[in-house]
Amino acid sequence: MSQTTADPSTASTRRNRGAALEVTDLRIKYGETEAVKGISFAIQPGEFLTLLGPSGCGKTTTLRCIAGLEPASGGTIAIDGAVVAGPGKHVQPEKRGINMVFQSYAVWPHMTVAKNVGYGLKGSSKSEIAARVEEVLELVGLAPYAKRYGTELSGGQQQRVALARAIVTRPKILLFDEPLSNLDAGLREQMRVELLQLQRTVGITSVYVTHDQTEAMSMSDRVVLMRDGQIEQLDVPREIYRRPASEFAATFIGRANLIRGSLTGEKTRAQAAGLTVTTEDPYRGEGTDVLAVFRSENVVVGPDAAMLENRWDAVVERLMFLGRHLDVTLRLPSGIVRAEVPIDTPVTEGATVPVGVRARDVHFVRAQA
Ligand SMILES: Nc1ncnc2c1ncn2[C@@H]1O[C@H](COP(=O)(O)OP(=O)(O)O)[C@@H](O)[C@H]1O
Ligand SMILES: [Mg+2]
Repeated sequence: MSQTTADPSTASTRRNRGAALEVTDLRIKYGETEAVKGISFAIQPGEFLTLLGPSGCGKTTTLRCIAGLEPASGGTIAIDGAVVAGPGKHVQPEKRGINMVFQSYAVWPHMTVAKNVGYGLKGSSKSEIAARVEEVLELVGLAPYAKRYGTELSGGQQQRVALARAIVTRPKILLFDEPLSNLDAGLREQMRVELLQLQRTVGITSVYVTHDQTEAMSMSDRVVLMRDGQIEQLDVPREIYRRPASEFAATFIGRANLIRGSLTGEKTRAQAAGLTVTTEDPYRGEGTDVLAVFRSENVVVGPDAAMLENRWDAVVERLMFLGRHLDVTLRLPSGIVRAEVPIDTPVTEGATVPVGVRARDVHFVRAQA
């Protein structure tokens, strides 16, 4: 047979050529239990990729395996095209050109910033250490703080020290395991911005692990959504949000409205408890049991709903004023729908109101049994 049609596997091989990191069908076992069940992804140089998923889904295990701290029980890991883990192959962690940034910054309080950062270079000449430390401190904006002690630094500065220390050895890839999850909400948000800015400045390929969807969505070039040792979806944040691949993806990321229904013969229309739900995006999954997914910020309440492709009557169950918007709980024959609407929307509790969603804001995923 002639190979005139595009073979998706060839296409992906071509795309992955030059990948900084390529993980292929990776499996990791602890005794009899498989914590990671055959996952594959590739990262381009300079990319910020996040492994996101609930606690216990295998994020840390995957990261440790990339670092060489955990043996793979199947599959391969290649860094810059060289296999570091695979059948009969296990390159030692220190030979992989990788550094890891952990939750606690572990900045030594009794050492100066320069000493903290230079520590990883011990063995090199004094002048070389001094030059490299200076270069890296400049890069992360800590040059003026070189002589300060660990105790004299703010949280943000400590994070810079930790990052400087991780990059001073010039690793090919940086791994982060929930580096911000010990911080309180305010500081965490600030650190998120700062960390991303640093990563962009340094331009280092990064794999970041978090269970926090906001962190993942706001920081990453692409997100690997994991569940129970497998990849549920891999895409840019916007696509995962707009077109979740499954019920799990729809509910884990953001707040989604779900209406359970059956396709009506067409792949863009479903019937649910007497309602019709229409999408612009034909259903690509198996079977006819679907969930219509749409976001609360795309639900229109009141007269403006009349011109939308999806238009239903709903009873207003509850109103909550949240400053920037009004959170409306609506009852439809199919169940509850939440809407985020402008605060001046004329609605009252107990009233029946028209509710609408544009077809392009609705997405169908397979309904789980
Ligand atoms: N050293 C270990 N021995 C046995 N099981 C482990 C070990 N480390 C992790 N696991 C199990 O592997 C699964 C994945 O864990 P982990 O990678 O730490 O998840 P995450 O980082 O996503 O929270 C969990 O079920 C966990 O209990
Ligand atoms: Mg973990």
